[in-house]
Amino acid sequence: MTVSRLVVLGATGDLTRRYLLPGLARLAATGRLPAGLAVVASAVDDLDDAGYRAIAQESLTAAGAEPEAAAMLLGSLGYVRADVTAEADLRAVLSRGHGPVAVYLALPHTLAGTVCAHLATIGLPEGSQLVVEKPFGDGIESARELNRAVTAVVPERNVFRVDHFLAKNTVLNVIGLRFANRVFEPVWSNRDVEAVDIVFDEPLGLEGRAGYYDKAGALRDMVQNHLLQVLALVAMEPPPTLGEADLRDRKADVLRSVRAPSAEDMTRLTRRARWSAGNLEDGPVPAYAEHDGVDPGRGTETYAEVSYRIDSWRWSGVPFRLRSGKALAVRRREAVIHFRPVPHLPTGLRGRPSPSRLRLGFGPDTLRLEIEVNGPGDPFELERAVLEQELCPGYLPAYAQVLEAVLEGDPLLSVRADEAEEGWRVVEPVLDAWRRGDVPLEEYPAGSAGPTARPGDRPW
Ligand code: BG6
Repeated sequence: MTVSRLVVLGATGDLTRRYLLPGLARLAATGRLPAGLAVVASAVDDLDDAGYRAIAQESLTAAGAEPEAAAMLLGSLGYVRADVTAEADLRAVLSRGHGPVAVYLALPHTLAGTVCAHLATIGLPEGSQLVVEKPFGDGIESARELNRAVTAVVPERNVFRVDHFLAKNTVLNVIGLRFANRVFEPVWSNRDVEAVDIVFDEPLGLEGRAGYYDKAGALRDMVQNHLLQVLALVAMEPPPTLGEADLRDRKADVLRSVRAPSAEDMTRLTRRARWSAGNLEDGPVPAYAEHDGVDPGRGTETYAEVSYRIDSWRWSGVPFRLRSGKALAVRRREAVIHFRPVPHLPTGLRGRPSPSRLRLGFGPDTLRLEIEVNGPGDPFELERAVLEQELCPGYLPAYAQVLEAVLEGDPLLSVRADEAEEGWRVVEPVLDAWRRGDVPLEEYPAGSAGPTARPGDRPW
């Protein structure tokens, strides 16, 4: 059943203004906004329909939305002022319109439980959906609690836990690459793969998000959700279909087999750091700890590294290293499959061959296979060759794709309850160890390549 209304709670916030409104406009521009859909925006701000439309127009212009699409969206947009912690206010929001509704919680995650409790009391029409943004809780217990709260509102199949990485075309390319070709799957295991790196380095700093980020940190912000989801897609068994159950079952199998580093291995298998003063492209940047809204005593990391093992027949013994950091020199987003060296190099072939590597780039979207070949000139001298292909960008930006899936009622690209809990299961021991101070908080200058490599570590 598709919904006839989209209610956005938190409609004056950053997420709505920067991603949801432009995403809806993109759907309108490509003819994908369902005819007759009413969009009900709600926030605590004292506004009326016209006042909110003016704000929305500003966001759409800033995002470069096509004027016709923007006008179409504005025409379907209404506003209801509400304090989401007050049940009566939520009732008033939901009384605007009839039929199944998608309720999008574009709110600080700490409010999700309260809002769900009210929605469960009020009751949503059959076929309604609930969309919950990350972070989904802040640990395994709160994720479990939140899972109970959301499924008291709508059944699990109608819950959309958003992870916009799953709506990136690039990330989804992993599925086509692995399962529509015979060449990769036979070498996609511990027999031929030595290690897998999943890297998401950003030159961006805080972007005015200190209030959220300082409480989250890189591990919660990127690893618990996005990077573990990429790991799941890279490591999963072939699903028989791309139905939501098959795909999410296969991802959940992987996540269940991920082993968190033990307390003894924490300093070897994890690293945390935060940026110190340095230079980014736009000029000098003060240390993270000096930014407004940051509590330096909290020791929040802006860089996180964790090496996981997957306890399965296919992946036993292969390290999956995940890393993400902010204020770094280079924007690098990729999964790198490091293959093992050949068992024997024919005597007479000259050179120092490096093992093959496959790089899946997530923006720009590229596929890069690095191999050894006989070089020019002396035919027995080896040389590195790179086969590279830029891949098509998706027809929709990630948030438009997220919204399209919500409006179509297809949870394929959202995170299931068990996946969210498994993510916390393998991240929480690291958070605990870091909180206890078992792993030192290192520093790296803004605009650098991150913390200095440790002796013996495989270079990133
Ligand atoms: C968000 C994180 O979920 O993803 C941000 O909160 C991060 O810190 C962002 O910058 C990266 O996503 P994108 O869409 O910019 O690739």
